[in-house]
Amino acid sequence: MAKLKTVFFCKECGYESAKWMGQCPGCREWDTFVEEPVVKTSSRKTTSMNNIREPQHISNIKAEEEPRFPCGIVELDRVLGGGIVPSSLVLVGGDPGIGKSTLLLQLCREVVNKGKKVLYISGEESLAQIKMRAERLGTFDGDLLLLCETNLDLIEDIITKKKPDIAVIDSIQTMFKEEISSAPGSVGQVREVTGTLMRIAKGIGVTVFIIGHVTKEGVVAGPRVLEHMVDTVLYLEGDNHASYRILRGVKNRFGSTNEIGVFEMRGNGLAEVKNPSEFMLKGRPEGESGSVVASLIEGTRPILVEVQGLVCRTNFNMPRRTAVGTDYNRVNLLMAVLEKRLGYNLADCDAYVNVAGGMRITEPALDLAVVTSILSSYKNLPIGDDTIFFGEVGLTGEIRAVNMAEQRVLEASKMGFKVCIMPQANREHIKVTGIKMIGVRNIQEVMEILEN
Ligand code: TYD
Ligand code: MG
Repeated sequence: MAKLKTVFFCKECGYESAKWMGQCPGCREWDTFVEEPVVKTSSRKTTSMNNIREPQHISNIKAEEEPRFPCGIVELDRVLGGGIVPSSLVLVGGDPGIGKSTLLLQLCREVVNKGKKVLYISGEESLAQIKMRAERLGTFDGDLLLLCETNLDLIEDIITKKKPDIAVIDSIQTMFKEEISSAPGSVGQVREVTGTLMRIAKGIGVTVFIIGHVTKEGVVAGPRVLEHMVDTVLYLEGDNHASYRILRGVKNRFGSTNEIGVFEMRGNGLAEVKNPSEFMLKGRPEGESGSVVASLIEGTRPILVEVQGLVCRTNFNMPRRTAVGTDYNRVNLLMAVLEKRLGYNLADCDAYVNVAGGMRITEPALDLAVVTSILSSYKNLPIGDDTIFFGEVGLTGEIRAVNMAEQRVLEASKMGFKVCIMPQANREHIKVTGIKMIGVRNIQEVMEILEN
């Protein structure tokens, strides 16, 4: 028997190579190449060559608003950029069990109840299982068709025949094309399947939602490979132990990225969280040292979160440092700044910083709250319950300006906070009534405020 020809694919970016390499020249990641059988190129038609297009002058092109229809789930519509764009390809990624199937089934419910036609194709669950889940979510009045199938060629035929407005593929890792000999979920399959789905979406005018599981190590061809191919990438994230879920736009050809939608997993599906700040601050301790509220921006939306710091004497030679929900190295850096600029001896203290509620924050505007929570715990000075903080801390201990300061203050005021400690550079430019704004230039000034 002739030896099967194989090629090597990069798991991260899909780079193809005839031989194995330690480092991928495409994405510079190490040890990402996997061996897979050669993909036989099918004899399908490529773009027709007879209507070659002429380049157009930019001033002759009319800008058209993408027609879109809101699905009715406000948090989801926002992340999509205002609604579903017809013929687009949307990837919804996330850890297994986070609620992707639930979210999309809810989307189907809203859309069919508005009179659209939806085809939900599952390669993971039986029809009865989907029905059981659907019953938890409520009544379906409209035209929702369910199908259990993993062979993409058959799926293509059915979509072509039924012509739904929206098709959901749950999940990309279970789908396969017969002409490719590698297993479902491998880089080759995922690429080909997505390519076909793209052709279906653009050709027939169906909006296709693809569910993709992300594994920690990216062992199964992570949806990374397909991020480049689809129009929109959304990630559903959250803590398995917390009930809220955040839907984050990572890429969007038809809208802004960085938008988030906040949901709460309930017994009857995902419920929208209209006021995330209130949700995040639920159960906050009062009058305790180390607890500080920060005003942050996620996408274009302000959100208030509680940061907790705990500093105590260490019992080890090496002090322990832990950061949950924020960058560990950033916390270390801020502690070094405190040590150098305020002269505190933090080197023989363990320090723990936790963003309550399980959110993951990377915004530098969190710095001031982190620094304050560490100081508050170290000095055992409780912060007023009606005080809020935001600002970036630099290496010389200066408090630097951040963007969208006014929205941060307004959100704090709306949530009943009375005092806002913020960078002096921001303080000079905004006028908000109903909340006392105190500008600070450096951490010495912050310390003075805490001590009084
Ligand atoms: P699921 O949508 O199956 O996750 P995924 O498709 O991302 O793998 O959601 C699974 C979890 O959601 C499961 O642990 C049960 C929980 N769940 C609820 O808490 N309430 C509900 O109404 C539903 C349908 C699921
Ligand atoms: Mg699922």
